Amino acid sequence: MDRPQVLIASHDKAFLRNLAASLLLNHEVIARTDGASALESLLLDMPAAALLDADLPGLATGEVLRRYQRSQTHCRPTIALFGRKGDPRLRAMITHGMADGMIELPCSDGTFLERFWKILDSQIRVSWQELNEVQVALLEAGSHCVERMAASVESGEPVDVGLVDQFCQSLVAAGRSSDLLGMMGTLKAHHDYTFVHALKVAGTLTTFGLALGIRDGDLIRMAQAGLLHDVGKIAVSADILYKSSPLTEAEERVLRGHPDLSAEVLQRSEEFSSEVLDVARNHHERLDGNGYPRGLRGSQIDDLSLVGAIVDTFADLTQGNPTKRSLSPEAALSALRQMTPKQLEPAYLTRFEELVFAGLIA
Ligand SMILES: [Fe+2]
Ligand SMILES: [Fe+2]
Repeated sequence: MDRPQVLIASHDKAFLRNLAASLLLNHEVIARTDGASALESLLLDMPAAALLDADLPGLATGEVLRRYQRSQTHCRPTIALFGRKGDPRLRAMITHGMADGMIELPCSDGTFLERFWKILDSQIRVSWQELNEVQVALLEAGSHCVERMAASVESGEPVDVGLVDQFCQSLVAAGRSSDLLGMMGTLKAHHDYTFVHALKVAGTLTTFGLALGIRDGDLIRMAQAGLLHDVGKIAVSADILYKSSPLTEAEERVLRGHPDLSAEVLQRSEEFSSEVLDVARNHHERLDGNGYPRGLRGSQIDDLSLVGAIVDTFADLTQGNPTKRSLSPEAALSALRQMTPKQLEPAYLTRFEELVFAGLIA
């Protein structure tokens, strides 16, 4: 698969090296250290995206973008700028339509990457135009739900049950009329891990539930469990979530605390069912007791969490993120197969495999 090209231009070579290392997995990186060579690359390489220092040496960044705008004969890449917080040039270049977004410094590496993906994602939404009305409405509602969930986690307010319920009702209706698959396909291009993962797990659990003959309220609860199971991860810093080197013990502890944190967040609203809370708490538990956070075994783990563990792992493996390459559905299934019967429930996995092979889940 061809990786999209990203131009990164900055006079700071150490910064370039660091950033390029984070992007190399999913992108082909073109690194430039001055304005003139950045302009040349924009014109000749025609990258899919460009990330430019607002303070390029030689030809100034504003001039690079002005000349590029004048010579442009094709559709321009998504352009993100970065620079010192409060630098008036940043906002001026955005206001004049020369760039799509900006990242203000200083910020941590994880936050920087997260902001860059957000700018890219705002352009990717254009691809939603290929979908039907129901699918676009679902994606809009899903992204609104996830944004509101993030705001609730940050402010300590309860998650809006009405909003979640409304979205999950639409998800189930879309699952019944086979509208889910097209919507899930467009999620692939997005970088916002939380949004993509929540929608992928919710949509896949809904499809799985429908195929298992689960109906009505139980199906809504499955969709809710998918959407909300990782809500606690929103509070985990991007530096941990997107770290490309192994986590330290302390970081691992923070990450492994997310299931309990998810359950804690959901408990605040007092309206989510015990099944939804169980999936939040138990989706990383494994049959042999080697899961977390409690190391539950066998029958101590509820059925919906066992199903959730399969769907969650599949979604994670096929999704990828800035620091992890995604697997094909077939490769992900064989990885899951290796986790049975010790860790995952083999009977559920067999049923799940049938749905992937039938093209109902991708
Ligand atoms: Fe999780
Ligand atoms: Fe998850």
